[in-house]
Amino acid sequence: MQLHLSSWPEIEDYLTSSKAILIPIGSTEQHGPNGLLGTDALCPEIIARRAGDESGILVGPTFNVGQAQHHMAFPGTITLRPSTMIAAMLDWAQSLSRHGFERIYWLNGHGGNIATINAAFSEIYHGVTFGPEGSNRPPLRCVLRNWWELAGVTDLCKQLFPVGEGSHATPSEVSVTYFGYPEAIKHVAMAPKIAPTGPIYDAEDYRRRFPDGRIGSDPSQATPEAGEKIVTAAVKGVIAEFRQFAAS
Ligand code: NI
Repeated sequence: MQLHLSSWPEIEDYLTSSKAILIPIGSTEQHGPNGLLGTDALCPEIIARRAGDESGILVGPTFNVGQAQHHMAFPGTITLRPSTMIAAMLDWAQSLSRHGFERIYWLNGHGGNIATINAAFSEIYHGVTFGPEGSNRPPLRCVLRNWWELAGVTDLCKQLFPVGEGSHATPSEVSVTYFGYPEAIKHVAMAPKIAPTGPIYDAEDYRRRFPDGRIGSDPSQATPEAGEKIVTAAVKGVIAEFRQFAAS
C-alpha cells in the first residue's frame, strides 16, 4: 500500500488498524559511470514498494535528496545541508504524527545520511520533550535501517559479488536499480576494473581521488538477476522487522 496512491479515507481507515508507516530515504548523487543518479533513493523505494504490495505495509513518499556534498563535483548530484534535512524530516514526522502515526520506519539507502538521520531523530524527540505536554516518552518512535544490513542481505551481496563490491557505486546497489528499471541499464567498461579506495573529504578532492565516482567497486558486474535476488531477501527482512517495530 502506498500513501501517494491512496485517498485520505483509505489512510484514515489504515490508521484504525496500524499506526506505523515506512518511509524510504536516500540521496540523489552520482553513482559512477553505469550507476543511476537515483540509486540510493531507488534501492529503498523498490524494496519498500514491493514489501508494501506483498504485506499491506503503508509506504510513504520517498525522501529522495540527502547528504551528498562530497559528490557535488559530478553533474546531476543534488544535496541538502544537514540542517535543512533535519528540518524537513522533522516536518514529515510531525505531519504524520498529527494524523495519529506513532511508528516511522525509515529505510535508508545512503551511508552518508546516517549521522544526519540520527540527529533528526533527536530533534523529533526533543520536540516532544519540550512541547506543551512535555514528556520524555514520545508517542512517536523512529527507527533507521540501512537496506544492505537487513537480515540475509549482507551475506547474499558478499556471495553474489565476492570481488569488487567496494563501498560506493557497488554492483549490489546497481543491480537492485537494474532489476527495478531494466530500461535504464547502461553497459560501460570500467577502467581500472576495480576503483581505488581512500578517505572522503570535500567534493573537489573526492573527484581527484575517485575520477569516475566509484570507490573500491566494479559495478560492471551488476545484473537485474542479482538485483532480483537481493530485493527478494530484503523484502523478506523488512516485512519481518517492520511488523516487529509496528507492534513495539
Ligand atoms: Ni549508493
